[in-house]
Amino acid sequence: MKKFGLVSSAVLMMAGATAASADEISVVCSAEQDWCDLMVAAFEAENTDTDVLMVRKSTGETLAQIRAEAGNPKIDVWWGGTGDPHLIAAEEGLTQASGVDTSDLLGWAQNMATISEGKAIGIYAGALAMAYNSEILDEKDIAPPACWADLEDPRFVGEIQVANPNSSGTAYTELATFVQLFGEDEAYTKLAAIGQNVNSYTKSGSAPSKAAARGETGVSIGFMHDMVNLAAQGFPLVAVAPCEGTGYEVGAVSVIEGARNFEGAKAWVEFALRADIQSRAPETGSYQVPSNSNAEVAPESPDLASIKLIDYDFATYGSSETRARLLARWDSDVGDPNPQQ
Ligand code: G6P
Repeated sequence: MKKFGLVSSAVLMMAGATAASADEISVVCSAEQDWCDLMVAAFEAENTDTDVLMVRKSTGETLAQIRAEAGNPKIDVWWGGTGDPHLIAAEEGLTQASGVDTSDLLGWAQNMATISEGKAIGIYAGALAMAYNSEILDEKDIAPPACWADLEDPRFVGEIQVANPNSSGTAYTELATFVQLFGEDEAYTKLAAIGQNVNSYTKSGSAPSKAAARGETGVSIGFMHDMVNLAAQGFPLVAVAPCEGTGYEVGAVSVIEGARNFEGAKAWVEFALRADIQSRAPETGSYQVPSNSNAEVAPESPDLASIKLIDYDFATYGSSETRARLLARWDSDVGDPNPQQ
């Protein structure tokens, strides 16, 4: 007998739906591809009657898909990606509470659940940072950046790569971090000045650091754990915690409202919150801080206590109105001259 088969299939038939069978769960993963793949394999190994259909998509892109599919969702569960768009999906009624036990989770992970009334739950945390390719900067005799303000300097013209905050949760975290650090007007002035040095705005948040690791750009903005992973692979990439301070993400998991396989989605959330499962992330070079207080923290994980972190206001920057306003102003004041399709 299929694990989630009977009830859900009957309900679907009654509803006349043409949904995928109930022993499938459809997952959008907004973490790194290798970790997404490991999670699918590990879940299927324990739940042998369930097929997981997984695609990797950036956080902002996933929010756009969930909005477009509201009322007829193709996704059951959204795992990974920065927390603000998960909170926005919750506020817009696009996700639902799964009622899972969160008592083993650290405060910052429970905070997401509190803000979203149980719809978005924290799974990991990571700090925003900058990185540079030491060989490229040496070769070009460019002094490395130490502060966000350095990125405005003309010495970096054509050398900086960042993601687009419309598609990427990483870049939205950057935008919200600048607003919280410098105030709104000054934040856009700085982002526009940095924009003069940007060679391209990517869709995904981890792409710029991968490009910097390969020497395709001198400098990137992204999450420090992704930079540490690339450096550990031997690339000449140096991560920098900016002198002014920086923001951070709380990656989240959410069950989609109207999910075709709610029980399967709930089982995925329970699985993703387990200490033994979160402890496996470093096998794929994913060095975020895990949310389960009993999970092992990899020695490679950046020590968030040693970084000057802002008190990131998730309730404000994870609200629909704030995100729409900040993105509209980013489009007009900064903008991507060559948006990727
Ligand atoms: C990488 C990081 C994750 C982060 C994600 C956001 O995968 O390792 O910690 O949540 O980027 O992706 P995005 O493409 O939306 O910026």
